[in-house]
Amino acid sequence: LHQSDSNIKAGDEMVVYLVGAGPGDPELITLKAVKALEMADVVIYDRLANEEILKHAPHAKLIYVGKKAGEHYKSQDEINQILLKEAKNNDTVVRLKGGDPFVFGRGGEEVLALKEENISIEMIPGVTSAIGVPTTIGLPVTHRAVATSFTVVTGHEDPTKKEKQVKWDYTADTVVVLMGIGQIEENTREMMKYRDPETPACVIESGTMPEERIVMGTLGDIAKKDIKSPALLVVGNVVNVFKEMTSKELFY
Ligand SMILES: C[S@@+](CC[C@H](N)C(=O)[O-])C[C@H]1O[C@@H](n2cnc3c(N)ncnc32)[C@H](O)[C@@H]1O
Repeated sequence: LHQSDSNIKAGDEMVVYLVGAGPGDPELITLKAVKALEMADVVIYDRLANEEILKHAPHAKLIYVGKKAGEHYKSQDEINQILLKEAKNNDTVVRLKGGDPFVFGRGGEEVLALKEENISIEMIPGVTSAIGVPTTIGLPVTHRAVATSFTVVTGHEDPTKKEKQVKWDYTADTVVVLMGIGQIEENTREMMKYRDPETPACVIESGTMPEERIVMGTLGDIAKKDIKSPALLVVGNVVNVFKEMTSKELFY
């Protein structure tokens, strides 16, 4: 084992592992995540694209705290309380989140709540859908001479915020929008204030999973297409690189 692996050890102190589960394909999870799951007494998990990952924790108590679109199954405060309670009563707790826990996963809020109670916590990153999903279809978020930068932005900002932080005036060459399918029409309209409507755009639905769909278009017309969540939108000339790399038969 490398030195860096040695921080996952059974039984010496109670610890919460904040773990990224990857974007869907159950093989897109890190060895470190599998190790933490194998040792877990409790796994507290969100709605996962693929629950097969839970098979790595055959002895753990499983607690589902996922949210469903539109209705909140558990509030963030309630989730923090569950985490604190389980952390105090068990040696090894895994908090499992889709993708990477710190990319629109509210992982930071949970870490802060645990730290306030002096609970040891270790972060295990995951393959974020923002990059991993485009990569698995052959869509590079950067590409020499085409895109030297990318932005990942939420398409659904917390509606209770006093002032909007998402302004859509990003200067990065590639923009990846998560959680934006419900608002794709207004989001693309906002983006067109700063970008040409002919900018290539691509939506990837259920990326890395058997039901994956790729929807091609432009910033100006992608909102009119039939798209279902979970999905992400990629806007920028890198979409043309993807077109070059793959055969047209893939497109819908
Ligand atoms: C609450 S965010 C969580 C993101 C996650 N923490 C990550 O790093 O991928 C959920 C959003 O991620 C995107 N997403 C997650 N998994 C996806 C997948 N397999 N295919 C396409 N988009 C996905 C969708 O935009 C979805 O609305």
